[in-house]
Amino acid sequence: MKILVTGGAGYIGSHTCVALLEAGHEVIVADNLSNSKIEALDKIKQITNKEVVFYQVDVTNESEVESIFNNHKIDGVIHFAGYKAVGESVEKPISYYYNNVVSTLVLSNACLKYGVQRFVFSSSATVYGDNKVPFVETMDLLPTTNPYGETKAMSERILTDIVKANPSFSVALLRYFNPVGAHKSGLIGEAPNGIPNNLMPYVTQVAKGKLDKLRVFGNDYPTPDGTGVRDYIHVVDLAEGHVAALNDLTTGVKVFNLGTGKGTSVLELIHAFEKANEIKVPYEIVDRRAGDIASFYADTQKAEKELGWKAKLDVIDMCKDAWHFERNQ
Ligand code: WQD
Repeated sequence: MKILVTGGAGYIGSHTCVALLEAGHEVIVADNLSNSKIEALDKIKQITNKEVVFYQVDVTNESEVESIFNNHKIDGVIHFAGYKAVGESVEKPISYYYNNVVSTLVLSNACLKYGVQRFVFSSSATVYGDNKVPFVETMDLLPTTNPYGETKAMSERILTDIVKANPSFSVALLRYFNPVGAHKSGLIGEAPNGIPNNLMPYVTQVAKGKLDKLRVFGNDYPTPDGTGVRDYIHVVDLAEGHVAALNDLTTGVKVFNLGTGKGTSVLELIHAFEKANEIKVPYEIVDRRAGDIASFYADTQKAEKELGWKAKLDVIDMCKDAWHFERNQ
């Protein structure tokens, strides 16, 4: 299939381009490079020996998006492009709502206009809010604590309504848990601008000495060691989940959790990183971070049963590959 990947130069997008190319698909990337680098596309070529077609466009721009659909007979869209920093979304709600919601509208509208029936959307476990764990796809969504999360929930609802009105359009809503790690080549991975917000990139930068020490946000949660528990998933497994979802799309809206089903605490992750890479990660315990919840992880049965997809890589792989990538920076 010929697949348009928005945000294809970004962290999850670039790994998904690799997975698509390796599965024999053709890839067109649309990315405005606002939080990614064009070099990622050369790295994709080094890994796969295949090239992607690249458009430097903002996917909120209707005419630029439509010109891509005009130039290529697209079979499916995987929509990653979007802003993703939770804290920033609280400060810049207009940018977040505009960018993340308008892009979904523009792309789905182009799909309908050009007869493209497959649409895979990059959603987040954040849409579950503070539900009971494990999170299951059938749960009612609860309000999220920030505009970023709301843009994901809104896009899910918009796409669901579009399918109701256009039964030949099919959508997969993929709810990611906590993506970490990097491609085993060390060529592509997560390279956040400025000081990282998320745990793993912070850990790798502390290990490298770029940052002084890690701050562990709270050790008084109702979890086994008191620190927050998350379901970390290797980005290469996550990328393969997209190929599986794309192949599965026929009709209607399908929702899938992409996680491992296993919870890991902040302290467990630090210790796994130290063990996997034989390096110390200095840390201190500080107050809880506003908006964090104690613990969440996925129920993964639906993806296993319906997509035949299951995460294969474990926390040690995630720590090794994240460190390999960071050392190459
Ligand atoms: C993980 C754990 C922190 C940093 C967020 C978004 C979500 C998703 C991924 C993306 C928590 C603790 C973290 C640090 C720490 N979105 N922590 N010190 O908050 O689960 O999810 O990012 O695009 O939508 O909400 O991920 O990596 O920030 O935190 O102790 O310096 O690590 O408290 O328990 P989170 P995270």
